[in-house]
Amino acid sequence: MTSTTAPPAVAPTEGTGPGSGRFPWTVVLLTSLGIVGYVVATYAQAGLPLDGSRGGLAATYAERPLGIQLAFYVHIVTASVALLVGPFQFSAALRRRSRAVHRWTGRVYLAGVGLGSPAALVMSFVSSIAFDGFFGFGSLALLWAWTTWRAYRAIRGGDLPNHRAWMIRSFALTYAAVTLRAWLGVLILLQTLTADGPVDGAHVFDTAYAVLPFLAWLPNLVVAEFLIRRRGLPSYRITPA
Ligand code: HEM
Repeated sequence: MTSTTAPPAVAPTEGTGPGSGRFPWTVVLLTSLGIVGYVVATYAQAGLPLDGSRGGLAATYAERPLGIQLAFYVHIVTASVALLVGPFQFSAALRRRSRAVHRWTGRVYLAGVGLGSPAALVMSFVSSIAFDGFFGFGSLALLWAWTTWRAYRAIRGGDLPNHRAWMIRSFALTYAAVTLRAWLGVLILLQTLTADGPVDGAHVFDTAYAVLPFLAWLPNLVVAEFLIRRRGLPSYRITPA
């Protein structure tokens, strides 16, 4: 099986991607900033050493070897940087105003994914939900690096439509940090509302979290592909060898 990209059905338009419409872009921007703010607030408090004594989720990693703890902190810092700068890359207005800023922010995004992805892969081996987390988050980490790499290769080759298409896919995966938490809230709420008796908080959380390693990002890719097609950018095709 080989992968190829089909030629655009219509000429790609300027201002494509999640940021093409001002309203969806603003939603993506604000939710991304919200999650970055949440991460900073949570983990700045937790601090080092990772004993969880000062709050936060760091306790999950307190008993882990130093390499895992390091991967954890590299991951949340660099992935947060990618989530922070990513939305700005889709603003046509910002791109028009300064190509140089777009290029430099793009490099920061690349560095964020370049470090955040291997760190996430390491963490997927010790995921709090074992195999489920390993396969779900592990695949996400690999696809995250791959889509970003393709976006970089495309722009180095002067292929703007493919660069935009791959950046939409890449950021759709970065945005999993937002959709994971949104799905978590929805699933917890649904279970609580439909429960017959008293709700066991830990059970409800575990049940919701179990589907998140895949649910956090698979629908994002579908939406990304929809946006890519709607913008007339090269869509992804799997063709027989
Ligand atoms: C898109 C690729 C990503 C992958 C593959 C990934 C992978 C992982 C994995 C495997 C864990 C451990 C989960 C567990 O123990 O069950 C984790 C936790 C975490 N990740 Fe990511 N992550 C990604 C993106 C991001 C982004 C963009 C952020 C930025 C906010 C982020 C922030 C965090 C934080 C704060 C945690 C700690 C647990 C929590 O707060 O829910 N991750 N990630």
